[in-house]
Amino acid sequence: MTPFNIGVLGIGDISDVYIQNLQKYGVVHVLACAGRDLAKVQAKAAQHGIARAYATAQELIADPDIHIVLNLTLPAVHAELTLAALRAGKHVYTEKPLATNVAQCAEILALAAERGLVVACAPDTILGSRLQTCRQLIDEGRIGEVTGASAFVVSHGHEWFHPNPAFFYQPGGGPLLDIGPYYIAALLSLLGPATRCCAMGKRTIHSEPLRGTEIAVEVDTHISGNIEFANGAIATVLASFDVWDSELPRLEIYGTKGTICLRDIDPVDGPNLFGGEVLLRTVDEYRWKSLPRPAVQPDWIRVPAQHRFGETSHRVNSRGIGLIDMAYAIRQRRAARASGAMGLHCLEVMEAMLTSAAEGRFVSLQTTCERPAPLPVDFPDREA
Ligand SMILES: NC(=O)c1ccc[n+]([C@@H]2O[C@H](COP(=O)([O-])OP(=O)(O)OC[C@H]3O[C@@H](n4cnc5c(N)ncnc54)[C@H](O)[C@@H]3O)[C@@H](O)[C@H]2O)c1
Repeated sequence: MTPFNIGVLGIGDISDVYIQNLQKYGVVHVLACAGRDLAKVQAKAAQHGIARAYATAQELIADPDIHIVLNLTLPAVHAELTLAALRAGKHVYTEKPLATNVAQCAEILALAAERGLVVACAPDTILGSRLQTCRQLIDEGRIGEVTGASAFVVSHGHEWFHPNPAFFYQPGGGPLLDIGPYYIAALLSLLGPATRCCAMGKRTIHSEPLRGTEIAVEVDTHISGNIEFANGAIATVLASFDVWDSELPRLEIYGTKGTICLRDIDPVDGPNLFGGEVLLRTVDEYRWKSLPRPAVQPDWIRVPAQHRFGETSHRVNSRGIGLIDMAYAIRQRRAARASGAMGLHCLEVMEAMLTSAAEGRFVSLQTTCERPAPLPVDFPDREA
């Protein structure tokens, strides 16, 4: 079958790993790349053996041979460039967030539906071995019926080390929107769609002088909230730039028969990585099961990763696997797993938490999404 030609829009920090990963799969062919500086784009094209280099996004989008635009530009221009690509008849896979607000996301999905095109959206860490192993445990009933979850996205922000931290503290940034999408997408992919949210938030100004300039803190830096899911489960979410350190696991899923725990690997490294250990404790290993308590408590079960993409090391970066899934989805006329609908719903959850914090009320969600199908353990061999 003829591969889908990919045009890579944006050749910054994250582009190399995408291009290297995509070049491993025959279902796609990286045909072109574009940025804002032709010399840099040409260098990137030469580095990866990419045939076509464009100085502007518009030229790449106009290339009639491109089938899928991979949007790796900055969040502020994601929507504008995704809409332009859709108008030119291209499918789009975009880095997160799909857009910076729900209204723009909805416009993107409506245009894609009208044109019969597919939009999919990072994070594709939901397809990594760690979260797919969690999914398998849930689907096998190992923790019974899912009743709740917790997600802890805590760090001490960026202003104490990052050379240009201001944008992390402006609308579209903050602890929830910065790394939160990985955690919220993980919850949506495991628990299904959410129905309402509430949260409290506060702003703490930690800004250090930036060569004599103080940065403005325009977003909540500590948000504590809850998400209610359509299946009845309730998640506790803490997203903060005001925490120096923590022993809290990054993600836990609670069920009627057990708990799945994703411990921290490195600071802020939880479901934002593809791999990493999955711990399980069920009623049988329950620490306080026997009284008097035994001298040695049963440890967590380390669940072997059965899935690809991060199974050998949590440092393996499989970014782009969501686009490979999308390519097969287009061929097979099925839904892409890292779907645009989930990107929209994920953003609405985060917006709703911030609205709840600002207005002191529960916020019901207007959008929904399908829980993506689990990734087959031999993906993509079976498809190819
Ligand atoms: N860097 C990471 O580790 C990382 C990890 C996960 C996700 N992401 C996401 O990937 C995306 C890109 O991040 P990055 O770190 O590569 O950023 P970057 O600043 O290194 O690169 C952005 C690229 O987009 C290009 N660009 C911006 N506006 C453009 C326009 N109007 N037309 C054409 N090109 C334009 C820039 O020239 C640059 O090549 C972001 O959405 C980010 O959230 C980054």
